[in-house]
Amino acid sequence: MTNEQYYELIKPYEDVSQIMLTKLEILNHSIYSKDTGKPIHHIQNRIKDKKSIEAKLERLQLTDSVMNAKDHLMDIAGLRVICYFPEEIYDLVQCLKRQADLIVIKETDYIKQPKKSGYRSFHIVFGVPIHCLDAMEYYPVEVQLRTMSMDFWASMEHRICYKKEYDDKDKVSREMQQYAMALELIESRFEQQLKDQRL
Ligand code: GTP
Ligand code: MG
Repeated sequence: MTNEQYYELIKPYEDVSQIMLTKLEILNHSIYSKDTGKPIHHIQNRIKDKKSIEAKLERLQLTDSVMNAKDHLMDIAGLRVICYFPEEIYDLVQCLKRQADLIVIKETDYIKQPKKSGYRSFHIVFGVPIHCLDAMEYYPVEVQLRTMSMDFWASMEHRICYKKEYDDKDKVSREMQQYAMALELIESRFEQQLKDQRL
């Protein structure tokens, strides 16, 4: 893929990323209540860079072409939504699913069913329509929704072990799983504090 092809490829993904970001910002101030505050702590967005696209196509054993990237990569546009509590993640997902222009392409709930590593997050790929002169096409945006505690764990674990090979991997990964459980417990204590205050 040439640089020119890459910049042409990502244009519509930049547009759908922006649309999704705006939708989330609107939800963040409309779901807002005086008791609980806004559900979203912050949002990160990124467009997959050229090297990562090429590396992923190679991992999938596909030739490096614009068509393969469009057909097989669902995370060229990615948003990470960091919330306070898991409940807010499910509220946001419900609200987005009710929006008639969006379609759900893929959904994985790693909160209800964490990965073996201990990783927790809600992953959902939405198709967002882009209207050109006389045609409409859906482009995928991968939205990863996490609480702050899930994000803390994932960022640390990513730094330390994700997709790496080293000697005492089993020992480290057992510890990572324990940290994930400890963080989940702390988060639920915070949630309980908030519920107690509201009584
Ligand atoms: P990728 O090829 O990495 O995109 O994986 P996938 O297409 O099989 O999707 P999956 O939903 O499993 O994971 C996608 C993304 O979630 C990754 O790029 C990471 O950002 C995150 N992720 C998944 N598993 C882990 C994990 O065990 N640890 C950390 N830190 N992040 C993870
Ligand atoms: Mg990915």
